[in-house]
Amino acid sequence: MTSTVEFHDRMLSLGLARVAEQAALASASLVGRGDEKAADQAAVNAMREQLNLLDINGVVVIGEGERDEAPMLYIGEEVGTGKGPGVDIALDPLEGTTLTAKDMPNALTVIAMGPRGSMLHAPDVYMEKLAIGPGYPQGLVTLDMPVATRISALATEKGCAPKDITVCILERPRHEDMIAEVRSTGASIRLITDGDVAGVMHCAESATTGIDMYMGTGGAPEGVLAAAALKCMGGQIEGRLLFRNDDEKGRAEKAGITDLNRVYSRDEMVTEDVIFAATGVTSGTLLPGIRREPGWLTTTTLLMRSKTGSVRRMEYRTPVE
Ligand code: FBP
Repeated sequence: MTSTVEFHDRMLSLGLARVAEQAALASASLVGRGDEKAADQAAVNAMREQLNLLDINGVVVIGEGERDEAPMLYIGEEVGTGKGPGVDIALDPLEGTTLTAKDMPNALTVIAMGPRGSMLHAPDVYMEKLAIGPGYPQGLVTLDMPVATRISALATEKGCAPKDITVCILERPRHEDMIAEVRSTGASIRLITDGDVAGVMHCAESATTGIDMYMGTGGAPEGVLAAAALKCMGGQIEGRLLFRNDDEKGRAEKAGITDLNRVYSRDEMVTEDVIFAATGVTSGTLLPGIRREPGWLTTTTLLMRSKTGSVRRMEYRTPVE
C-alpha cells in the first residue's frame, strides 16, 4: 500500500500522544505485580488498538520483532485506517518490562512516527551507543574514541572537571571494562538495570536528570527510538550494530543493511522530521509514572516534534472503575 497524502505531523501528534497514553494505562494495573509478560501484552494490545484508529497508512519498522516471533506490532505490520499519509512507525509499547514488573524507575511507552523511509530498519540485534545532550559541537565525542577521551572532551567543552561528569550505563557484565575505564577518569556513573531509551533521553535534559553522557551496548531498535527522541530534544547519538552470529547478520541483510560495521549518526538513523511520544509508566527523573488514586488514573506524556523542536509534557486524567 502506498499513499500520496502528505504527512501533517502537527495534526497527527495528539493522536500519537493518545497511543502512548493508552498503552501506559493498559499496563497500570500490572505495575509492581512481577509479571513482565502480562504487562508487555497489555501495552502491546492497547497500542495496536489505538494505532489502528489513526487515519494513517502506517507500517511498523521498529516493533515487537519479526513476523514469525511476534503476532502483533511485528516489523512490517500495516497499521492505521489506511486512509491517511504513508508513515513509518517505530515503537516499544513497554520499554522496561522488568522495570514495570518490579516497579523500578523509568519504564516508558514509546512511539515515533515519520514519513515513509525516515527511520533505519534496525534488526533486533545489539547496538553500541554513545549519546550526549544538545549544545555541543557536532562530533565532540565519537564511538571510535577511547572511553577516557570521550569524558575529557565533554568535560573540557562543558567547562568542568571529569569528576563533574555523570555517565549513564546499563549494568551488564559486558560493560565491566567500560565501567572501570569511566571510573578511572574520576567521572561518576549512574547504573541502570534496563531502559536505555530513557537513559539516552536523560542526556537531553541534563540539568534535571544529572546525566551528561550515555554509553554502552543495548538493543538496536531502542537505539533508533532514542535517535528519534534526540532529533526532537536536541543532542547527538552514534550507533554501531553488533552481531553475535550469522543469523543476526542475516537479519541485518534482510533489513537492507549492507555495511555491517557502519557507525550511524542520529540523522542517519532518523533521516527526516518525526514526531515522538513517550508516557511514563513507573516514576522516573524524566517523567512521572502513572498515578493511581481511588477512581482515577493520571499519566504524563512527553510529546515532541523535531520540525519545531517543541517539547510538551501533557498530563491526562481519566476516571476508572
Ligand atoms: P525490555 O523492555 O524489552 O525488557 O528491554 C529493556 C532493555 O533494557 C532495553 O532498554 C535495552 O536496550 C535492552 O533491554 C538491553 O538488552 P539486554 O537485557 O539483553 O542487555
